[in-house]
Amino acid sequence: MDLKPFKQVRYSYHLTYPKLTSIITSGTYEKPNAMAASWHTHLSFDPPLYCVSISPKRYTYKLIREYGDYAVNFLPFELSEKVWLTGSFSGKEVDKFKEFGLEKMRAAKINAPIIAQSLTALECKVINVVKTGDHYLFIGEIVYAWAKEGILVSAGGLLDIKKVRPSYYLGEGKFVTLSDSEILEFQ
Ligand SMILES: Cc1cc2nc3c(=O)[nH]c(=O)nc-3n(C[C@H](O)[C@H](O)[C@H](O)COP(=O)(O)O)c2cc1C
Repeated sequence: MDLKPFKQVRYSYHLTYPKLTSIITSGTYEKPNAMAASWHTHLSFDPPLYCVSISPKRYTYKLIREYGDYAVNFLPFELSEKVWLTGSFSGKEVDKFKEFGLEKMRAAKINAPIIAQSLTALECKVINVVKTGDHYLFIGEIVYAWAKEGILVSAGGLLDIKKVRPSYYLGEGKFVTLSDSEILEFQ
């Protein structure tokens, strides 16, 4: 048998990586914060819902509770170090936008700013918060979405994978991207 037991269940999240990793922005345009997050997903088409799982230890947790919104920003692979840095320091101590060269941009519908270097970004307003073990799931309605000019190949928002190299987290400080743009298409 090729499949063997993986005994470190505590680290089984790594078995589902690499994961498209985001930077969650929170707070306000004047006093923003940014934090790396790998645990996030879509939940519903109608209304369009997105969630992110955040530990109450994060400064981001406090800001989302306070302002009721957040943005999910997806950066290009080339900027993975910024993702890493926002995940390695707390906004309690560091102005991460300033220190790590993140360009802030006013969001259309929420208090939190978005990151101008993003490939895509989703603005979310919190509609529910669910405690999930040692994290809290912030469920947000997507109230506005952004995509960098020229990276979409369909009106439905498909990324032009030949042009776009999103940042994926592999774990233990390592980032990867899609290196082969071979596409299998099924109808
Ligand atoms: C690649 C990466 C992904 C992360 N994903 C999450 C996550 O999904 N949820 C979470 O609560 N923390 C996550 N973290 C940890 C936070 O980003 C980290 O604790 C950060 O310093 C919190 O910043 P803040 O205190 O300014 O909110 C991740 C860290 C890294 C490096």
